[in-house]
Amino acid sequence: MIPDLRVDVGPLRLANPLLTASGTCGYGEELLPFTDPGLFGAIVVKSVTLEPRLGNPTPRTVETPCGMLNSIGLQNPGVRALIEEILPRLRGLTCPVIANIAGERLDEYVELGRRLDPEPGIAALEINISCPNVEEGGITFGQDPRAVASVVGAVRAVWRRPLIAKLTPNVTDIRVPARAAVEAGADILSLVNTYVGMSVDWRSARSRLGRPTGGLSGPAIKPLALHAVWRVAGLGIAPVIGIGGATTAADVLEFLSVGASAVQIGTALFRAPDAGARALDELRQLLACAGIPRISDLIGRFALPSQ
Ligand code: DHB
Repeated sequence: MIPDLRVDVGPLRLANPLLTASGTCGYGEELLPFTDPGLFGAIVVKSVTLEPRLGNPTPRTVETPCGMLNSIGLQNPGVRALIEEILPRLRGLTCPVIANIAGERLDEYVELGRRLDPEPGIAALEINISCPNVEEGGITFGQDPRAVASVVGAVRAVWRRPLIAKLTPNVTDIRVPARAAVEAGADILSLVNTYVGMSVDWRSARSRLGRPTGGLSGPAIKPLALHAVWRVAGLGIAPVIGIGGATTAADVLEFLSVGASAVQIGTALFRAPDAGARALDELRQLLACAGIPRISDLIGRFALPSQ
């Protein structure tokens, strides 16, 4: 038996539930020497902003126990390069491409949505309202439910294809921004973005990053991410894409179990750029051994101990 890995994520029909996480494989081409990016259910490309950005001072990454901290600062070539140079190259890929936008002000998000709307070859738009590494915008939008609603609503008015709101976990109750995003028109929620963290060299009393704080990702955050996904999926208001430390097929199945319809893999790609291909092979084997014909049957099966 060859298990059926297809999943529907709201309006998106994907060949399998494994996506790349934004910022972890550039615009897909970084995977090419190691693996076929077309193997993924979709690839989510690095956030673009209206103008090119050089990013934050170095060092921009530091390893932490079971994870990493980053302070990239939204380095990217800008929306014009995405449209004119990168998207035409990505049209050769065999899987859907999801674009990701970030901004410092509301009107920047709107302009990005407007510029990308007519472009072919973008299956969905993920809004990054959760970047921890910029002075303005980013995470501050994601932490205020009114700002979440205004960004999502304003992009919704100019972008006609599926819209994904990527939520920050750096809030007291992630269900609050989740509701605000869906009420404002998001079709899908993706969560979680990175947790704000620090790494300090006590001898020099300095951050190991070029800025005091960074975003924590990798297996260290997986239990926290699972909890957030479980809470939001339990609302039943929109399909959820789980993000946070997924590395193996078993991790993917844990996220599906608590209600995610798909899962993004990110930090794992830095250690093993073929981690996606391996997880997909392993998923097929696990399902075949367990006699489960369709992966979609596993979504939301998590049961409380008393049930
Ligand atoms: C960056 C953006 C993010 O959304 C994130 O989670 C981590 C880093 C960045 O470009 O700095």
